Amino acid sequence: MIKRREFVYLCPNFGIVEMNVYIKTKVMKKTKITVVGAGNVGATCVNVMVQKELADEIVLLDIKEGAAEGKALDIMQTATLLDFDVKITGSTNDYIKTAGSDVVVITSGIPRKPGMTREELIGTNAGIVKDVAQNILKHSPEAIIVVISNPMDTMTYFVAKATGLPKNRIIGMGGILDSSRFKCYLSQALDVPANDLQGVVIGGHGDATMIPLTRYATYMGIPVSELMDKATLDKVAADTMVGGATLTKLLGTSAWYAPGAAGAALVESIVRDQKKIFPCCVELNGEYGQKDICMGVPVVIGKGGWEKIVDYKLNAEEQAAFNKSAEAVRTMNNVLKDLKVL
Ligand code: 2OP
Repeated sequence: MIKRREFVYLCPNFGIVEMNVYIKTKVMKKTKITVVGAGNVGATCVNVMVQKELADEIVLLDIKEGAAEGKALDIMQTATLLDFDVKITGSTNDYIKTAGSDVVVITSGIPRKPGMTREELIGTNAGIVKDVAQNILKHSPEAIIVVISNPMDTMTYFVAKATGLPKNRIIGMGGILDSSRFKCYLSQALDVPANDLQGVVIGGHGDATMIPLTRYATYMGIPVSELMDKATLDKVAADTMVGGATLTKLLGTSAWYAPGAAGAALVESIVRDQKKIFPCCVELNGEYGQKDICMGVPVVIGKGGWEKIVDYKLNAEEQAAFNKSAEAVRTMNNVLKDLKVL
């Protein structure tokens, strides 16, 4: 892990000069991260993580012969260009190489193909994700698992049920991505930097299930509702909800830059114990009025995984939207039972 350090430089002519520099220091325990799935999202996630030097070693694993090794080698060859020092290992389905990982990001699974029912998608991806989770835990029993595979809310729930891991160690990546898209559309509508905006999307990670909390969105503390008319704000919320679908239409496949970066931001808060608040898909046990479900709510992310659920006080309309979203997520989760994979 890389740390910022202060040190004193003894200069023969000018006495003691204090310098504040970044140096690369290996702290006691080495950090290891694995990303399973060397597709666009997985590879982008690795590419962002190495540039942030989030670990001493990052393993990229894929079932397809040579795919992970190839992408790992390609990313490795950017080290001197981008100035990072991280060991990157590619692996074709050899989970021994992932041993001792602190965090594992699961991106594996297939996208929905034309003619494919949602049930078929859930069945196929559940099989893949279960296999991945079991193999990972064999070699990294203490790992925190970040789920990106779709349908993400159902896959996160499935990992929780299938592994029986403590709930804080399972985090679905959805809300952090949707919130980033929300802030992007807000910044375009207001013509201000996205980084000066706050915006949170909760609920499920689906076109019809996510809930951009427009009431809580602010520009440097000013509610955005004071800065734009209702029709514009409604359009921002609607664009956010179909954010992924818009990209799929434009690209002919699902997006990867923002999903990969969102995964990396989540991992950063874990390995650096930043305690950032991100909306993530986590198991609810009565919070936000729901239980036996994994859904997007704001959580504190640190070295223990998701450490605390932040209770935004929803008004009646927002709570009704959350309940409706939960119903839709639950319907998808029930497919796991219908298919007898759970
Ligand atoms: C998205 O929304 C991949 O689920 C991801 O783009």
